Amino acid sequence: MEKEGKTVIAGESRVLEMLQEINKNEGYISRERLSSISRELGIPLSLLYGLVTFYNQFNLATSGRYTIEVCEGTACHINKSSEIKRAIKDAAGISVDETSSDGLFTLRDVRCLGACALAPVLRLNKKIYSKMTYEKTKELIFKLKKEAEGEAKLK
Ligand code: FES
Repeated sequence: MEKEGKTVIAGESRVLEMLQEINKNEGYISRERLSSISRELGIPLSLLYGLVTFYNQFNLATSGRYTIEVCEGTACHINKSSEIKRAIKDAAGISVDETSSDGLFTLRDVRCLGACALAPVLRLNKKIYSKMTYEKTKELIFKLKKEAEGEAKLK
């Protein structure tokens, strides 16, 4: 069914509740889980995928200790949010929706964090970092890695 250009899933609110429960209990919704829900409910996988990517409350991958959300809203995009992602790739070895092998970092894309005047921004575990550059982002990643290494030595 189509409604204002969006395909509506029958019983969408119940499907959303089910997805929210899985996301809450397991921390994310894996591709395998999405496929099994698709088969169980007879809903095309593409519609379910559209649903979980439309709402940014859903995680499609496990999360590391630090979730880094890079804003891809217009102001941030124009002010080179791509440089933030390049720094994260270089310093932590991850791209969007990936978690670093040490389990420290997860990178996600978000749309407008409401701090456009401070673009480009990233949000790290709910804290906003403004006017980020390639260098500032790399420094932040290395600082967090160093802290984690220091904690590991104390254990
Ligand atoms: S566009 Fe990035 S905070 Fe608004």
